[in-house]
Amino acid sequence: MKQYKAVNWNEPENDYALMFWEQNIKQFWIDTEYIPSKDIDSWKALSPEMRECYKKALGGLTLLDTLQSHTGMPKIMDHIDSLQNKSVLAYMCMMEAIHAKSYSTIFTTVATSRDIEDIFHWVQNNKYLQFKASMIDKYYRKLAETDISKEDLFMGLCASVFLESFLFYSGFFIPLWLCGQGHMVASADIIKKIVADESIHGVFVGLLAQDVYKKLPHPEKAKEKLLALLNELYENELKYTEEIYTEVGLTAEVKEYVRYNANKALMNLGFEPIFEVKRVNPIVMNGLNVETTQHDFFSKKSTNYEKSMEIVHLRDEDFVMDTSIAI
Ligand SMILES: [Fe+2]
Ligand SMILES: [Fe+2]
Repeated sequence: MKQYKAVNWNEPENDYALMFWEQNIKQFWIDTEYIPSKDIDSWKALSPEMRECYKKALGGLTLLDTLQSHTGMPKIMDHIDSLQNKSVLAYMCMMEAIHAKSYSTIFTTVATSRDIEDIFHWVQNNKYLQFKASMIDKYYRKLAETDISKEDLFMGLCASVFLESFLFYSGFFIPLWLCGQGHMVASADIIKKIVADESIHGVFVGLLAQDVYKKLPHPEKAKEKLLALLNELYENELKYTEEIYTEVGLTAEVKEYVRYNANKALMNLGFEPIFEVKRVNPIVMNGLNVETTQHDFFSKKSTNYEKSMEIVHLRDEDFVMDTSIAI
């Protein structure tokens, strides 16, 4: 008979689970803490092309977070032995659902119902977005089986790291680029919280992948497979970037940012970078580093746009009149 085990956090299972658990908790946030309505004037001042690009970028991001929350994290969790690592993944899965919802929080403040309908319709029909979702999902679906090879698990983890550390960034570029110049700043505070989360997710899942890689019977073959997947996704990212950024003249800069993040994904998996990166737009880097929020995953939770979450509950004693005060 199968013995069910309870997660015991008093016995360390590895060197990093508790550290990642605590850091994830420290980064906790929800979309409704933020006030994107502060961006309404900024939104109206954007050109129609810029607004279109922004909406499409956020639509694409919503699709990736939906896939990661509904499929990626739960499927990976099934094949990870450490119960503490499973708990970290479960927490990350919940955050992916918050990420996916938070784009809707931004949409609902800046876009009309008709616009929102159009964005979701576009997402469902855009061939490049659908291609990247189906490529990643293909590896996640293999994890749906109970009996899988170590290589299948490794490739599923690689697909997850590619999604987290690479595929999001063509979408993150525009909110960060605008924010770096003082536009759509309140909405960018939400985006920056998502970037900080994706950063820690990519590092954590990358470590899980590295653990599996060490045990592979044919690691070279697996490495070839992951590089082939990266290249296929990269070619698609270039076309996706052209489709959404040509009208606003940012294609070349976004492609550079895409290569920069593809290298980061490889490094999270323990491999050398393969793309030559000349210069990432400093405005985008600046967009990540404004004083209110920080990209570094060891950052604290803090932004100027948060609503107050420090609620002091009233107690019975608070209603007792202080008779020492002279009227
Ligand atoms: Fe996410
Ligand atoms: Fe994530």
